[in-house]
Amino acid sequence: MIGISNGFDGLIDGTFRALGARDVGGILPHGGTILQTRRSERFFKPEHRQAARHQAQTAGIDALVVIGGEGSMRGAHALAGLGMRVMVVPASIDNDMVGTDVSIGVDTALNTIVDAVDKLRDTASSHTRCFLVETMGRGCGYLAVVAGVVCGAEMVLVPEIESSVSEVLDAIRDAHRRGKSNAIIIVAEGAGTRIGELLKAIEETDVGFHARASRLGHIQRGGSPTAFDRMLAARLGRKAVDALLAGESDALVGLSGRTIETVPVRDIIDRQREPSLEYFEMVKVLAR
Ligand code: F6P
Repeated sequence: MIGISNGFDGLIDGTFRALGARDVGGILPHGGTILQTRRSERFFKPEHRQAARHQAQTAGIDALVVIGGEGSMRGAHALAGLGMRVMVVPASIDNDMVGTDVSIGVDTALNTIVDAVDKLRDTASSHTRCFLVETMGRGCGYLAVVAGVVCGAEMVLVPEIESSVSEVLDAIRDAHRRGKSNAIIIVAEGAGTRIGELLKAIEETDVGFHARASRLGHIQRGGSPTAFDRMLAARLGRKAVDALLAGESDALVGLSGRTIETVPVRDIIDRQREPSLEYFEMVKVLAR
């Protein structure tokens, strides 16, 4: 097993190191990556992709396990087009990838959000305030909507569903009228309406609560992985190796229900994950 440092940049530069069983000892409780990672600008250029392919060949790497999100999957697919055998392991807190029910990191990120919102609620309820909490996820509202259900939010704003500022004001006002001591609104970072805009609107309107905003940011991407994430990573990693040994390539290993399956990358590469409408509705019901 060879570890490649710094993502695709490391493949271009040939920053490889042998990874034996003892080299990965003790990493289970840690977030991040011992290999380091990077968003590679160079890999967008065909000459650098060729260089990467050449480096792998020279080092005797006969198959590549790419761990990452959508961009990593596209990179892996491009390498497959150059004759490299690849298998993608979905790892992204955004949960925006098609081909797996859930990606590595999502559960840990959600648990961080739950912990943060529970703590914010202490101030919210003591001071009779409304909190606007921004979660990550790029163009995908998955983290926000699940957080909305499990944190008991009044409302969730996600990129996939349009919501107006007045709808948010109404939701907060209604919560106050129904006797609530606080209101939590979860705003996905990719939602059309941003927390700054909402904060201003709430302060300018009498909705019963004063508001504060909290952007959770990169704390959502760190920390010790949950048991669910460790198990998912172990199962996906094992399947990735088994599938490569069985001759499969240019596929993603994903969780489908209770089983781990491979899906050809060509079937999922241009597809967008459907928004969780059911969860979106559940937030409204549970907030009553
Ligand atoms: O794709 C994962 C993600 O954490 C997104 O949720 C977020 O928008 C982005 O990465 C942040 O990227 P960076 O760390 O490069 O600012």
